[in-house]
Amino acid sequence: MAKISVSTLAKMKREGTKITALTAYDASFAKLFHDNGVDVILVGDSLGMVLQGGEDTLAVTTDDIAYHTRCVRAGSKELFVIADMPFMSYSDPQSACQNAATLMRSGANMVKLEGGEWLYDSIALLTQQGIPVCGHLGLTPQSVHVFGGFKIQGREEAQAQKMIADAQALERAGAQMIVIECVPSALAKRITDAVAIPVIGIGAGKETDGQILVMHDLVGISAGYIPKFSKNFLLETGNMPDAVKKFCADVQSGDFPGPDHEFN
Ligand code: KIV
Ligand code: NA
Repeated sequence: MAKISVSTLAKMKREGTKITALTAYDASFAKLFHDNGVDVILVGDSLGMVLQGGEDTLAVTTDDIAYHTRCVRAGSKELFVIADMPFMSYSDPQSACQNAATLMRSGANMVKLEGGEWLYDSIALLTQQGIPVCGHLGLTPQSVHVFGGFKIQGREEAQAQKMIADAQALERAGAQMIVIECVPSALAKRITDAVAIPVIGIGAGKETDGQILVMHDLVGISAGYIPKFSKNFLLETGNMPDAVKKFCADVQSGDFPGPDHEFN
């Protein structure tokens, strides 16, 4: 597959080509995903749960993400890699820049931060310094203790309108992509239509510009709980390359996510 850049991703949104994304934490899986059609690899702080076995993502450090970003980057020079900024690594614009620089030097093409309008100054500074930014709205797992659990977000109209305004603020600040997690499909569509930058969904229905899954969910090996919105693609294909190809094909055709994997 050809090398992907932020320009490719912006063009995909304009042309209505769905963007496929999976998390990966090492060279072998990252290369396998890329070779089988995945556009974007996320070194997610979900590694705090699926690799480290934590109950949430709060224990993950910038050094953890940097290590796994180096591992992923070693899989191929062609990968488009987003590195998650962990809990408390972007509590002010200066620390955001310092920590994002560590991740970019580890091989990331973009960093991802959780939150809305309050991140405006940090995102503006990051992009001024040459660091592409992906936002993350909805169920932002670093705030699980504020939410009181891993719960769907944006069911109330006031909350929904705030999330749309947040997405627009992220775009104005300079963000070049947004992930939205666990929101009603109708809200995901409103957010996707409200911004010109690509919106990638997880548990957000099929109307977003693309889909992302945690790789352990794709192959049904997450320790403990498997979220409603994910699907075990290994079960029906029997091998990893075909599971990845099926995920990409089903995202492109609109078969995934289906009605069983969304919130209304
Ligand atoms: O950490 C992660 O894997 C994520 C995705 C679920 C979007 O942020
Ligand atoms: Na994350």
